[in-house]
Amino acid sequence: MSTSFTLDTATSRAHPLPGPVRRLTVPAIRQRKVEGVTAEPIVMLTAYTARMAQLLDPHCDLLLVGDSLGQVIYGLDTTVRVTLEMMIAHGAAVVRGSYRSVVVVDLPFGTYEASPEQAFGTAARVLRETGAAAVKLEGGEAMAETIAFLCARGIPVMAHVGLTPQAVNALGGYGARGRTEAEAAKILADARAVAAAGCFAMVVEGVMEPLARGIAGAVACPVIGIGASAACDGQVLVIDDMLGMFERVPRFVRRFDDFAARVGAAAAAYAEAVRSRSFPAAEELYGVDRVATASADPVHR
Ligand code: KIV
Repeated sequence: MSTSFTLDTATSRAHPLPGPVRRLTVPAIRQRKVEGVTAEPIVMLTAYTARMAQLLDPHCDLLLVGDSLGQVIYGLDTTVRVTLEMMIAHGAAVVRGSYRSVVVVDLPFGTYEASPEQAFGTAARVLRETGAAAVKLEGGEAMAETIAFLCARGIPVMAHVGLTPQAVNALGGYGARGRTEAEAAKILADARAVAAAGCFAMVVEGVMEPLARGIAGAVACPVIGIGASAACDGQVLVIDDMLGMFERVPRFVRRFDDFAARVGAAAAAYAEAVRSRSFPAAEELYGVDRVATASADPVHR
């Protein structure tokens, strides 16, 4: 990877735009679902760093700076201990690294649930300090008033119902939701409530497939599934899960790579090169006569 960069004087970005790229907008995402039909499914992945955002951006409609970064980046056991400062730092990095996708930042636990006013203060800070276009928050009927309050004040909200990881202590774990009739009815009511409150899209996580299918058919806004249903209007996965960074992943994750194994192999090759003194080679050093070294060491020319 090159470490040099030119400053794009048009945008002040260290990494100039790859071309004339226009960022997708929240209304464009909302309008992808027309009369209950989403002709082109919505693609969302989580991203936490600028470089990963650059790599994912051309392929995604939405990049989610999920509070899953607590587990994925910081090694925390739950998302409950994720702070607003973490979300803002990573949100700003993802905005800097992306050009096309709508960037959505999770509001962390404890920063929005107390009142609509608390949520507005937190969400406004997130949008102002990161440059993201929208926030995501967990909760159904109980959060409907807050979602309406934010939407009326210019803050686009993505809702999140079903398995809501920030409520792990109340739920008692990460098991799939909606197994009983009563629980399924409650989750459907949650989805209807956040849709009526004005969210532009919602994540439905970890629910029985028929329930997710029913929600996608019941609400007007796009439903983005994770462990939900192929009938959803879009899908999201945690980037590290789909890259194969972890040995144990939930049933709903498809690994599109075995990145952990490839990182291990690269680290082993590096360690071998250092221990055998074959790294660094002449062409990886400054002030070494390459021609003289090349004839002495043709392998590293
Ligand atoms: O935090 C997160 O990454 C999420 C996704 C799993 C939807 O909320």
